[in-house]
Amino acid sequence: MFNIRVRLKEDPYSILVGAGIVGGLTAQLKKIVSGRDAVVITNHLVWRLHGRRLAEALRRGGFTVKVFQVEDSERAKSAEVAFGLVRKIAQYAADKKPVVLSFGGGVVGDLGGFVAALYKRGVPLVQIPTTLLAQIDSSIGGKVAVDLPEGKNLIGAFYQPRLVLADVDFLATLSDRQVANGLAEAVKYGVIADARLFAFIEKNYRRLLARDSAALTQLVKGCAAIKADVVSRDEKETRGLRTILNFGHTAGHAIETAAGYDRYHHGEAVALGMRVACAISCRLKLMKPFEAARVECLLSAVGLPQVVEGLPLTRILKAMQFDKKFQGKQNRFVMARAIGQVVVREAIPEAVLKASIRDYIS
Ligand SMILES: NC(=O)c1ccc[n+]([C@@H]2O[C@H](COP(=O)([O-])OP(=O)(O)OC[C@H]3O[C@@H](n4cnc5c(N)ncnc54)[C@H](O)[C@@H]3O)[C@@H](O)[C@H]2O)c1
Ligand SMILES: [Zn+2]
Repeated sequence: MFNIRVRLKEDPYSILVGAGIVGGLTAQLKKIVSGRDAVVITNHLVWRLHGRRLAEALRRGGFTVKVFQVEDSERAKSAEVAFGLVRKIAQYAADKKPVVLSFGGGVVGDLGGFVAALYKRGVPLVQIPTTLLAQIDSSIGGKVAVDLPEGKNLIGAFYQPRLVLADVDFLATLSDRQVANGLAEAVKYGVIADARLFAFIEKNYRRLLARDSAALTQLVKGCAAIKADVVSRDEKETRGLRTILNFGHTAGHAIETAAGYDRYHHGEAVALGMRVACAISCRLKLMKPFEAARVECLLSAVGLPQVVEGLPLTRILKAMQFDKKFQGKQNRFVMARAIGQVVVREAIPEAVLKASIRDYIS
């Protein structure tokens, strides 16, 4: 088992990564919480697939277990569902000191984290992510939120977990599409910060796609370490350091929004966004074409989309105007200089932007 520390000034915490480590959960929990009442927030699918292992581990360690299951959909990330859960916890745990465990993908992680932040102004939160995307990205960094009809993640907070436990055995039941979805963010970490991690994915993508647990452990460890490092230097996104995590996300979000959220998974849209970002970087002579080609090849090898189909350029550009990274009137992009090295650039000429998006529209 690997232990990655998120070195926050006030409340540092560990990200534990390994295969089969959920069995040791309560030994870890006892180090960080005083109560023995576990409230698990999960969804029907994750609970059906993996709930027994979690419940057994908790009970064996002397915890009582109360499970609240939500529907398996982004729709569960709503204020209504969150307030409903807060009330259920209040009814169940009035005389207890509950620890909230978010057990699932990023949806359940964001929702459970939001609920833990609200109930009694905050109770201990443990993230037990079960998708690759959640293990390497959404469970780390303390961003918790729910969606509003007006937009995604519009009510939220920074609320750090006490512990993240990433057991790669849970990933065995993910669909191929969900694995590829997570791998997009993993490729992103390689490009923004770690050429060796990138090379590891190049060399091992077949093993990763086959859910090889040793390869997945290495990958999750490498990615989590990068996110942990970035968020511990910029906990509340005030210093601009977290910006690099948005590589591929400016065009990616625009494609996601313009296509409608049910068409592309987030990682798929980010893969397209990374292709666009590399094309811009090459046009600006920041990145060498052969490095961009490596990124493109790897994204294709893991099965991520190569082009956007049936979406006019104007729709994508319009969606981009609303992107939070367009501060004031100037656009702002995270550009690659090489694999492992990025730089933030403002005021990318519109012609370069348009040509680089057009490269990926069919
Ligand atoms: N807080 C953050 O920093 C942050 C960062 C990135 C994304 N997010 C959020 O994360 C969400 C996306 O997360 P996601 O991609 O994990 O989606 P998700 O939570 O919807 O999970 C994807 C699918 O996989 C299923 N699933 C989960 N674990 C499984 C397992 N072990 N085996 C089989 N199926 C499993 C889920 O039920 C779901 O159907 C979005 O709401 C996004 O806004 C948050
Ligand atoms: Zn992302």
